Amino acid sequence: MGDRIKTQIAIIGAGPAGLFLSLALKSRGITSVVLEKHTRDHVEGRVRAGVLERGTVAFMEELGLAARLHRECLRHTGVNLAVDGEVFRIDFERHTSASAVTIYGQAEVMKDLFAAASHAQIEIIFEAEDVNVEDVTFAPSLTFTSAGQRRTVDAQFIVGCDGWHGISRNLIPPHARNIIERTYDFGWLGLLAQAPPCASEIIYANHHRGFALASMRSTTRSRYYVQCKQPASLKEWSDDRIWDELSQRLGTSLAAKLTRGPTLEKSFTPLRSAVCEPMNFGRLFLAGDAAHILPPTGAKGLNLAVHDVKLLAQAFADYFATDSSTRLNTYSKRALTRAWQAARFS
Ligand code: APR
Repeated sequence: MGDRIKTQIAIIGAGPAGLFLSLALKSRGITSVVLEKHTRDHVEGRVRAGVLERGTVAFMEELGLAARLHRECLRHTGVNLAVDGEVFRIDFERHTSASAVTIYGQAEVMKDLFAAASHAQIEIIFEAEDVNVEDVTFAPSLTFTSAGQRRTVDAQFIVGCDGWHGISRNLIPPHARNIIERTYDFGWLGLLAQAPPCASEIIYANHHRGFALASMRSTTRSRYYVQCKQPASLKEWSDDRIWDELSQRLGTSLAAKLTRGPTLEKSFTPLRSAVCEPMNFGRLFLAGDAAHILPPTGAKGLNLAVHDVKLLAQAFADYFATDSSTRLNTYSKRALTRAWQAARFS
């Protein structure tokens, strides 16, 4: 049997939730070990969300992660709705308290998180295979295989940040958990193109042919979505077919500004909402997609993962500093309140 690792918090998953949590704990003097089944390159290379809410930006600033973000992000003070080709803009500064949203790809957030984690000497074990949780009640421990060796982590708590397809949610016994799920009979066909966006701000387009979303990752990288039935194969949607469909749904004036650049990534995301209640059991807590998964509208998954982490990091800080479990005991209820709001929004 390999060596035993002792830590205060064992985190499963090095996605946004796991990394934000490990850094937030470290900033509060709490030790953690992160187990990730893939390589760092694989995790960093995922094409995901691109809109950061004000609370996420503030959390990155609090953790000292926001320097590059403030240099490189795009800031939008409004959003556009196109209805059958007619566009009108919602001015955030005039109508909301949040003056702007920040456009900064999740892949960039992950680069900043990994850089900060290595600077903070947080132990992230990549390619951790066959993670198996032995106990989540009194003496939490988990085992995993790394470089062919079986190793053990002894922790005071385990946090599942392993996404909707991870193992941690199923550690809550079926009789103690309730999963509320809604699936839609359509999804979003996503296209990431090396091309300047067709507009300087995000456009949500409603058209009799269906919904489309025109967004961006930078001034040279565009992100588009076309709502459609799940295709048997992505081959059914050639690049030209996607660009043609986008042109129709965005309307003539915006279509004239579409630049059909090379495709960097094309994928289909089935749309569904699912929430697991509660988000804890014994000394196991869930955060991020491990507990809830939402349609990718406005990067709700990433921003909600950060909201869970902020609540959980503070709850652990209370526990280890003052032995108070109040925030830990109310974490699930507080996190679910926001999760259901986001589910309704999406
Ligand atoms: N053992 C170890 N690691 C695991 C396991 C496992 N059994 N199962 C999953 N993982 C890892 C995945 O490889 C992934 O890196 O857990 C991580 C989960 O990360 P995400 O799925 O990104 O979930 P989360 O951190 O909650 O972030 C939510 O990020 O990816 C987006 O769409 C997602 O917007 C959402 C946000």
